[in-house]
Amino acid sequence: MIVAGVMSGTSADGIDVALVRIGTAEGRPRPRVRSKVPGPEGPLHRLSRFQLLGHAHFAYPKDVRKAVLAAMNAQRASVADLARLNFLLAELYADAVLSTQRKLRVKAELVGCHGQTLYHQGDAESFLGRRVAVTWQTGEGAVIARRVGAPVVSDFRPADMAAGGKGAPLVPFLDYLFYRDAHIGRIMQNIGGIANLTAIPASAGAERVIAFDTGPGNMVIDAVTERLFGKPYDRDGRIAAEGRVLEDVITKLLRESFLRKKPPKTAGREEFGREFVGTFLRLCGPAAKGNVVTTATSLTARSIGDAIRRFVVKRSGSYSEMVVSGGGANNPTLLAMLANELSPLGLTLRLSDEFGLPSAAKEAAAFGLLAYETWHRRPSNVPSATGAKRAAILGKISYA
Ligand SMILES: Nc1ncnc2c1ncn2[C@@H]1O[C@H](COP(=O)(O)OP(=O)(O)O)[C@@H](O)[C@H]1O
Ligand SMILES: [Mg+2]
Repeated sequence: MIVAGVMSGTSADGIDVALVRIGTAEGRPRPRVRSKVPGPEGPLHRLSRFQLLGHAHFAYPKDVRKAVLAAMNAQRASVADLARLNFLLAELYADAVLSTQRKLRVKAELVGCHGQTLYHQGDAESFLGRRVAVTWQTGEGAVIARRVGAPVVSDFRPADMAAGGKGAPLVPFLDYLFYRDAHIGRIMQNIGGIANLTAIPASAGAERVIAFDTGPGNMVIDAVTERLFGKPYDRDGRIAAEGRVLEDVITKLLRESFLRKKPPKTAGREEFGREFVGTFLRLCGPAAKGNVVTTATSLTARSIGDAIRRFVVKRSGSYSEMVVSGGGANNPTLLAMLANELSPLGLTLRLSDEFGLPSAAKEAAAFGLLAYETWHRRPSNVPSATGAKRAAILGKISYA
């Protein structure tokens, strides 16, 4: 079956589409699914093929990005605008899938669309006398299904939360399928707006997978680069490469409550958005603009290193590789800082691309895979990653 996976993350940079062939297609699978590794849950073992056919990125038009960021940050966004955004984003997702199909000359039989997260609160909090954990991904499945002419699975997170989980992370399902190894303990580190990891000890069953958000990915770097240099991001880490790290700022921020909290945990703009960036800039004080970007870049690397020391290495098996994906993999300054954190831990840094899944395609491909599982009525949350009490079939289906 050919499935289109569609992802748009908290960076709000745009839409990634990956077309994957899953199941029992003809031809040699690339990369091969290693189905002999032990693991308790069935779905991963039933897959015979998982092949990336290609992927494409579509930047949001400037005004759309602005509207998305406004909807995420506003204390009181207008309900009419939120409803409009739901249908407008669906149109853009459909455009993106149709364009990728044309480019690759294939037609998707199923679409898995993550949608744009406008709000995520993975932990239950009091609201009107009840305690609720909530999440909201926008991008209307019915519109995408009609335009693409294929069924769409969307809104993946609520089913995991209904089962007691935090609704995130969901990519560990793909990580476990792709990167587990009989002899090598691996940490898959995605650096999107937020940074998150999946740690799989050598020869581990899925119940031993650890996954959580480590903290900021590109979100703080982007925000300060925008604020101080008027650019949406620090392209190729050039600004950060020239500056100096403000060590006292890093020391203070590493004491921040989210970073110290034990996993499972999830973060978003609620934790590392506008308010956090305000605090960050205040702590940096009158420092040179370039040093502020260097310090934001260092914060991402240091918080990842810290999370691994505190919550991964101490608690489970030994690890020798980190596989990096997401937009942050394009920032050489960030990768160099990260490599510095990892070498004392005996971890070698590798890129997702080396495993046949390009950095930019991985999360989109994951939502194609999750949609495929849902279509076959199989669960695809990893309870040890999300904290869910049970396995859950994720998402809602809109028919074409
Ligand atoms: N060439 C590059 N140099 C530096 N940073 C980059 C580069 N390309 C992408 N990025 C960063 O990656 C981010 C997008 O990453 P992505 O994985 O799409 O995140 P998300 O899943 O949150 O949308 C951009 O906002 C930018 O910060
Ligand atoms: Mg993105």
